[in-house]
Amino acid sequence: MKLLLLSLALVYGIQTHHTCSEEQQPDLTGTWYTVSLASNDTAKIEEGGPLRIFVHKLILENGNLRAIFFKRENGKCTQFSVSANPVEEDGQMKVEYSGSNDVYLQSFKEDEYAIFMLYNHNNNKVTLWGELFGRTPNLSEDIKKKFEETCIKLGLKREHILDVSETDQCQELEQ
Ligand SMILES: *[C@@H]1O[C@H](CO)[C@@H](O)[C@H](O)[C@H]1NC(C)=O
Ligand SMILES: *[C@@H]1O[C@H](CO)[C@@H](O)[C@H](O)[C@H]1NC(C)=O
Repeated sequence: MKLLLLSLALVYGIQTHHTCSEEQQPDLTGTWYTVSLASNDTAKIEEGGPLRIFVHKLILENGNLRAIFFKRENGKCTQFSVSANPVEEDGQMKVEYSGSNDVYLQSFKEDEYAIFMLYNHNNNKVTLWGELFGRTPNLSEDIKKKFEETCIKLGLKREHILDVSETDQCQELEQ
């Protein structure tokens, strides 16, 4: 009996521990909004630009991150999705979109915001760009400032950053 209790306690203990550590895993999945975009080729994030894309959801699929985005093309909203390769040792993910992108998650708070910086390779041209995602369509000035600082640290300028929190992000496609 004592042994049974002990083993139950062990199993219970291990399970509790397991649940705990699982809860501490960063969780990027779920609904997001694009709050700001940045690029050292600003035409790409302006109206009609290929990198002007609005996140809708992040999903974990077989351990890989998949993202559903909206974008407006010739005035029409469309939905598309991209998948990231497994995360490499230095934290880099690769995503095929408008060429190929090296993606780095710079910082995040799972219930609030996520900052990604990306190197887009297209026709031998490299474009540095960044995305600020929010769990809500708008974020505090503090987090927007944090995004600006991250962009500047990586070589972008203040005038490369666009606040898109107030723009139409094809919400009509949301479900
Ligand atoms: C943007 O940044 C990348 C990476 O630093 C650089 O290779 C590229 O030349 C820059 N593009 C422009 C238009 O400045
Ligand atoms: C978004 O945040 C900014 C600054 O905090 C504020 O000026 C603006 O009114 C907010 N917009 C919305 C839609 O909440």
